[in-house]
Amino acid sequence: MAIIIDGKEVAKEKREQIKKRVAELKAEGKSVGLAVIIVGENPASRVYVNNKKKGCLEVGIESFEYALPESTTEEELKTLVKKLNNDDRVNGILCQLPLPKHINEDAVINTISPEKDVDAFHPQNVGHIMIGDYTFLPCTPAGIMEMLKFYNISVSGKKCVVIGRSNIVGKPMAMLLLKENGTVEICHSRTENLKEETLSADILVAAVGKTRFVTEDMVKQGAVVIDVGMNRDEDGKLCGDVDFNNVEKKASYITPVPGGVGPMTITMLLENTVRAVEK
Ligand code: GUN
Repeated sequence: MAIIIDGKEVAKEKREQIKKRVAELKAEGKSVGLAVIIVGENPASRVYVNNKKKGCLEVGIESFEYALPESTTEEELKTLVKKLNNDDRVNGILCQLPLPKHINEDAVINTISPEKDVDAFHPQNVGHIMIGDYTFLPCTPAGIMEMLKFYNISVSGKKCVVIGRSNIVGKPMAMLLLKENGTVEICHSRTENLKEETLSADILVAAVGKTRFVTEDMVKQGAVVIDVGMNRDEDGKLCGDVDFNNVEKKASYITPVPGGVGPMTITMLLENTVRAVEK
């Protein structure tokens, strides 16, 4: 039976530290503020945005929500971002993805000032991550690294397999594991013999977006299994990319969904917002 990695517990400890730093900054007369933009009515995005606002409140960061209608044009959205780039109350800007199809996400991300890009999605910050010089941390992968550290799980020399090559999770995850001297492989939908690859993993990160995609037969005995998935199963229940009940019997450590990676992602967003002020 695996040890269940408690993301809520790790997040709680980290948020206590962040709260102290926010209080110190405020005592110096500095404001700490995060602007959160949401466009349209995507229910999952609404839940994420509410949780991000709740996280801000918990550590004393002021949040400013901009809920725009689905019909918002790319130009209107970019105009708002530019206004926030110049707003001194706002230290971080987060534009919840996905955006409606008529808006070019890259064009909007490129408009966010790299100094306020707390998601670390701007190409300038992606470049920093690539060379191992971190201004802002990529939130989900950085949250995962914090959890590994908390549980004293060493990455150095380990075979790390990441399933998923997204700009938000897969690619930056590979970079952070590499920085800690992991031997890293990225798998994706075109990977041949995926099972052969995943069975070689000491640390397996699943960021696929498919319910119970990773089954027990794909996991090596004693592997550390990290589940980034946020899916709804046939009964509408929140579940990850990993078949938890069966994989848990084989893994040494495993993250649950919910209560694993999710709380840490938001915590690292709060960390980045504080970094934006401290810089
Ligand atoms: N959509 C899914 N994950 C994320 C994230 O980490 N940041 C933003 N802005 N949108 C997302």
